[in-house]
Amino acid sequence: MVKENSKNRQDKWTIKNQVATLLSRMTLEEMIGQMTQVDQRAVEPSDVSRLSLGSVLSGGGSNPLPNTPKNWREMVLGLQEAALMTRHGIPLLYGVDAVHGHSNVVGATIFPHNIGLGATRDPDLVERVARFTAVEMSATGVYWNFAPCVAVPQDLRWGRTYEGFSENPEQVSVLGSAYVRGLQNRDHFGSPGTVLACPKHYVGDGGTRWGTTKQAEWLSNIEQAADYRYKIDQGDTQISEERLRAIHLNPYISAIKAGASSIMISFSSWNGVKLHAHKRLLTDLLKGELGFSGFLVSDWGAIDQISADYYQCVVASINAGLDMIMVPFKYQRFISTLEQAVNRGDVPIDRITDAVGRILTVKYQLGLFERRIDNEPKPEVMGSTGHRLLAREAVRKSIVLLKNDQKTIPLDRSIGNIVVAGPAADNIGLQCGGWTIEWQGGNGDITPGTTLLEAVRKTVSPGTTIYFDPHGNFPDLDRVDVGIVCIHEPPYAEGVGDRADLSLGLEEIDLIERVRPLCNRLAVIMFTGRPLIIKEQMPQAEAWIAAWLPGTEAQGITEVLFGDHTPVGKLPYTWPESMTQVPLGSFELVKKGTDNITPLFPLGFGLEAH
Ligand code: BGC
Ligand code: BGC
Repeated sequence: MVKENSKNRQDKWTIKNQVATLLSRMTLEEMIGQMTQVDQRAVEPSDVSRLSLGSVLSGGGSNPLPNTPKNWREMVLGLQEAALMTRHGIPLLYGVDAVHGHSNVVGATIFPHNIGLGATRDPDLVERVARFTAVEMSATGVYWNFAPCVAVPQDLRWGRTYEGFSENPEQVSVLGSAYVRGLQNRDHFGSPGTVLACPKHYVGDGGTRWGTTKQAEWLSNIEQAADYRYKIDQGDTQISEERLRAIHLNPYISAIKAGASSIMISFSSWNGVKLHAHKRLLTDLLKGELGFSGFLVSDWGAIDQISADYYQCVVASINAGLDMIMVPFKYQRFISTLEQAVNRGDVPIDRITDAVGRILTVKYQLGLFERRIDNEPKPEVMGSTGHRLLAREAVRKSIVLLKNDQKTIPLDRSIGNIVVAGPAADNIGLQCGGWTIEWQGGNGDITPGTTLLEAVRKTVSPGTTIYFDPHGNFPDLDRVDVGIVCIHEPPYAEGVGDRADLSLGLEEIDLIERVRPLCNRLAVIMFTGRPLIIKEQMPQAEAWIAAWLPGTEAQGITEVLFGDHTPVGKLPYTWPESMTQVPLGSFELVKKGTDNITPLFPLGFGLEAH
């Protein structure tokens, strides 16, 4: 809990008065403008001033061209200036998904995805990662991060498993709240280099059931996030209230205690009712019982899924307790519909002043009214050495050693010959995964960083010969002492990554088989957003390593491979033996060991190499 000193009390009092004064002067149109969030691709600065828009976002891959830190800064500042030119000069809140670093920006430091941070079990590290992320964001004038994702994923087939820290709600609570403290910098919230956190997606997004995702037939695939591929993402969480609270709610309680003042609502439903229309969970539970005084933002076009009648979508979501709507494109329609609903009395005006009061309060707390870009961290912090060193530390601590026969790890750095194979071994895009530069991530040199192959090169002695081939074809090679095979899941984000079968593909199986006979000892490194089915392939290699989706700094991997550091990562998810074990029953049963399932590796597993 934050101790209240007299300055704090005074700030609170001042903010309350400032908000009340502003509210008393605002027209309905100006208030609705504050509740509207539009994607950058759909607005010009003049629209921001004309409509008094409260927020603009860059969805995944909504980048300026060319995508440079400088252009990001200019894009955001251009829109911000337009907001300051409005009658009341209310600054704009610009939001992004900086979910593993400021990850849309070419040149930013890309940290491991949350699954890797979960393996570190280190709240202090997670807090520092979030702090550096906030610093890089602030350098571009962006002060709102749609993070941390505090989902508690219960089914590995979900394409957002890697966005969750763990299947264990306690771990998610500890690391999620550390992340909030990092972004907002505790008592310094509002000073340069700090940004607003937005825990998401409230609530039960990680508990949906396979096969329950429904397409809203009145929306086209472009309009709705969920297209035909989605199987569990945005689905229905079919559990009792007791289990909803026990598994999925606690991370929000911790995040609110840590100071979270915005929360994003989940696309998913709870027992058939869309969260975006769930007054009991939004207003009664979150704002009432839990005393949440910040504001609630919708997810991407999510209210459109409530009903075929857009008027009902707007009325139901605002009355349920949503304060800001991520429209994200057809904002004229949203604005006029909400205006009409208020004029007809279908949305009470008190609901509007409550929503706008909450948004303005947070804008004051974030210091938006005073912040000047000149006082913020300089653009040079983007991808700076210090930040990359922290990312490397996070990678190193996230590495989970699953098998280590014949003391294969640590490898000897003065080894004579070494084989490195796999399409992901020299590929920043595949190493980073989804939500990197583009929404779905990318392939190849999408942003500067160090690949695994480059990290090996930097580590081994000058006398070592490295043989590399992405496909493991080494026709002229005699036997070498050590081989490293890197297998990967192709990048994905959200429901695009929903996968019924997590077995290795033929290409990966062939790759391992091709390299196996060439080396005395083989280590397999996995770039993956979740545990994969590897039981049959495990005997083929002496060492198996889960490196998750590490981001740009693969030297964190070689520091463990070559013994500068002993591995400390522990599995954040239970590792199943076969698909029949997925989903692994309920978390509580697995934890108590009363589920009669023996997984390949239990939650918390991780060897140390000695
Ligand atoms: C995702 C959110 C994200 C938003 C904005 C949605 O599709 O579910 O996690 O914050 O897009 O990019
Ligand atoms: C956006 C993402 C969003 C997704 C949902 C993309 O175009 O860039 O941020 O989450 O659409 O469909």
